Amino acid sequence: MEDLGQALAVNEGMLMLGGGNPAHIPEVESVLKASMQNLLEAPGALGRVIGDYSPPQGDPAFIEAVADLLRHEYGWNIGPRNVALTGGSQCAFFMLFNMFAGAAEDGRSKKILLPMCPEYIGYANLGLAPDFFTTTLPSMELIDKHTFKYHVALDSTAWADEIGAICVSRPTNPTGNVLTDGEMQALIKLARAHDIPLIVDSAYGAPFPNILFSEVQPLWDESVILTLSLSKLGLPGTRTGIVIAREEVIDAIARINAIINLAPTNVGSALMLDLFRSGEVLRLGREVIKPYYESKAREAVAQLTDELDAYPFLLHKPEGAIFLWLWFKDLPITSEILYQRLKDRGVLVVPGHYFFPGMGAETQQGRECLRITYAQAPEVVEQGLAIVADAVRKAYAERRA
Ligand SMILES: Cc1ncc(COP(=O)(O)O)c(C=O)c1O
Repeated sequence: MEDLGQALAVNEGMLMLGGGNPAHIPEVESVLKASMQNLLEAPGALGRVIGDYSPPQGDPAFIEAVADLLRHEYGWNIGPRNVALTGGSQCAFFMLFNMFAGAAEDGRSKKILLPMCPEYIGYANLGLAPDFFTTTLPSMELIDKHTFKYHVALDSTAWADEIGAICVSRPTNPTGNVLTDGEMQALIKLARAHDIPLIVDSAYGAPFPNILFSEVQPLWDESVILTLSLSKLGLPGTRTGIVIAREEVIDAIARINAIINLAPTNVGSALMLDLFRSGEVLRLGREVIKPYYESKAREAVAQLTDELDAYPFLLHKPEGAIFLWLWFKDLPITSEILYQRLKDRGVLVVPGHYFFPGMGAETQQGRECLRITYAQAPEVVEQGLAIVADAVRKAYAERRA
């Protein structure tokens, strides 16, 4: 995982199909540039943004703009007391997971339930207590020769009282799955029945950056903690996460911010303030960001299915986010060895077994799957995928030899 941490900065020349860096979309970059220019030119604005701490809950003007936008767009019953900012949404998961799982006041140990695994690699090491996750594998629907979709296969009758919260990413990193409205309603019902929160990680989803290729409803109510982020809009460097939740949860996040950070950063929220007030952020998502990634996904799928049509290769239907989840059935080598071979040939991908937090022993999918991103420059993706396909063909040939 160090490879991903070193990411673009250090691995010069490497074809980076591994990490979660968003694309540099020219139209988004020019909007951000104009916003930065306004900030520099408005009297006193820069001084307020980089010269002052914000309150621990985050910049009040931006928080109000977020609450107004969500209330108007979706009719959710929220105000500024339901919104907090964090140092990226990653940091919010650290706070939330350890708030709802680990050692409870009654001495019992609580866990986070991940009902749709493979799930985001960044959850894996967040627990301050051991044995932090309960994980369930999904069922699989075969859509056509090379395409499948995962569905939640949770047996809600086998519920364990040790669950302190449920968490899903929607769209899911690494698979590009988007849980259906029906699946979300079932999870909310389950959370309500057990009086625990459903944490919905919408880092790629609605209402922004809206990298969603299937028609689904965003949702929030008092049993949901929705986490959003400015990163995949094009601002990962500003580290801005946004949590939408009941007031007690927001108060707790503000207190933790004060303890570990004093205050969240102001730069991302200052750059995006007018875009949230005007609703322009939603237009960017709908008209620029979503179509950009959707066409990238289509191109990557076409190239892979063309190059590997003769092989028992499957990919998860890309319904959102910036990844393809590739499954090489009965591959004679593990995805870890494939990853090493690809790294030796200058292509970085992520082997599947990292995406099963709490599963213990490796799963078949962990050994046979890879995650790749199609967010990098087109020539990088095309060249990288050609090398992936070649390495896979060679690996299958080893069995025949
Ligand atoms: C599913 C998912 N959630 C959350 C994050 C955290 O993003 P950030 O901390 O930049 O908001 C990422 C980052 O890649 C992600 O893929």
